[in-house]
Amino acid sequence: MKTAAAALLFVQLALATAVPKLETKISYDGYKAFRIKTDHNTAAIESELSRLSVVPLNLDTDKHIDIAVAPQDVAAFEALKFTTDVMHEDLGADITKEAVFAPYEVTAQAIPSLTWFNSYHAYADHVKFFSDLSAAFPQNSEIFNVGTSSQGRNIFGIHLWGSGGKGSKPAVYFHGSVHAREWITGKVVEYLTYQLLTQYGNNTEIKTALDKYDFYIIPFVNPDGFVYTQTNNRLWRKNRQTRSGASCVGTDMNRNWPYKWEVAGGASTNPCDETYKGAAGGDTPEIKALMAFTETLTNGKGIKLFIDWHSYGHYILIPYGYNCAAKAPNHARQLSLAQGLSTRIAQSYGTRFTTGQACAALYATTGDSTDYLTDVAKAEFAWTIELRPGSSASNGFVLPAAQILPSSIEQWEGLKYLLANV
Ligand code: ARG
Ligand code: ZN
Repeated sequence: MKTAAAALLFVQLALATAVPKLETKISYDGYKAFRIKTDHNTAAIESELSRLSVVPLNLDTDKHIDIAVAPQDVAAFEALKFTTDVMHEDLGADITKEAVFAPYEVTAQAIPSLTWFNSYHAYADHVKFFSDLSAAFPQNSEIFNVGTSSQGRNIFGIHLWGSGGKGSKPAVYFHGSVHAREWITGKVVEYLTYQLLTQYGNNTEIKTALDKYDFYIIPFVNPDGFVYTQTNNRLWRKNRQTRSGASCVGTDMNRNWPYKWEVAGGASTNPCDETYKGAAGGDTPEIKALMAFTETLTNGKGIKLFIDWHSYGHYILIPYGYNCAAKAPNHARQLSLAQGLSTRIAQSYGTRFTTGQACAALYATTGDSTDYLTDVAKAEFAWTIELRPGSSASNGFVLPAAQILPSSIEQWEGLKYLLANV
C-alpha cells in the first residue's frame, strides 16, 4: 500500500514537471482600476497597498501609481481616501468589450480592409494581415523571419523598399509588442505599414520616403507573450520562457539586451518581477534572434532610425536609459527632432507627447533596446515611443478599440514628419 502510494505520488510529481499545468484564464471581473496621485508619499501609499489584493499597472510610480484592486478590496481601498482617478470601473468588463474582434476582411483588390483598424484581433489574424498585405504589394515588400520564440513561434517581420530595390537604403526599423499587454502598439505599427505600402503609388511624399529608406518592421517581437494575453492573462508583460530553478515564468525583453545589462538599478534579478532581466544579457531566444537580425542591418546600409513601440504614457524617449548623465553624441539633434515629432503629433487631435531622455523623463532601465541600438548597432536615432493613453485617460493597457484609429493617425502624421526631417 505504502509503496503503491509512494509510486503514485512519484508519477504525479513526474507528470507535474513534464506536463505544463493547465491554466485557466485570469478574470479581472469586478477589479476597479485607479490612478493614485502620490504627492511624494509613494512609500507610505505602497505600504498601505501591500495589505490589499492589487495588481500594479505602471512602473513610473513617482508621480502616480496605477493599480487594479480586486473586488473584495475595493471598499477597503476607497476608505483609504487617496487622491485618485478611476481608470476602469470594471476592468474585466472593459477587457470583455475589447475582446470583441471584428471579422478579418479583405477588399476586392485582396488588400486588408480598413475595417481592420476598428477592433483588436487574434494573433493568427495579425499574421494573416501581414502576409496578405505583403502579397498585395510584392514589388515593394516581403515577409521575413528573424528566428523562433521560446515556445517555437516565428518572429516575423515585413520588409518594405522603394525604387532603389530591396536592401539598397539605410534602415528604418520598428519593434512592436515587446511588452505583451501593450496591444495598441501592434495596431499602430500595422497602420503605419499599411499607409506606407498603399500610398507609395499615389503620394509623392510617401514615394520619396520609401525610395530613401528600407523599412524593417517587426510587429510582434514577443509573440508568445501576446498570445498569452489573449488566452490566459490580459495583463502579461514578459516573454513566456521558463528557467530551471525558477517557479516564475518570463523575462522582460526590454531589460535583456546585452549592453549595460550588468549595471545595477534599472531592472530586477528576481524571476518573479515584471522587469526580470534574465540570468545573462541576451539569454532569451527572442533577443538572440533580434540581435542577429539587427547586426545584418548595421552591416548592411546601417540604421537611420529605430523605434521601439510601447504603451502607455505619451512619451517620446531618446537615449539613454542606463544612466541619466550619459548623452548620445547627437543628443541635441535627437531632442530637437523628437520635439518636432511631438508638435506634429499634437496637430491631429491635440495629444501631448512628452519628449526627453529615457532615464530622466521616465525612469532608469538597463538592457533596454534603445541603448543597445544606439551604442552597439550604431543607429543614428533610437527611440522608445509610449503610445496612448496619457495621464488624463480613464484606461491604460486596455485602450478602447475606438482609439485605435486616432492613435494610428496621429502617429502616421508624426512619422511623415520624421521621415522628411530625419
Ligand atoms: N516603458 C518601457 C519599459 O519599461 C520603456 C522604457 C524606456 N526606457 C527608459 N529608460 N525609460 O521597458
Ligand atoms: Zn512597454
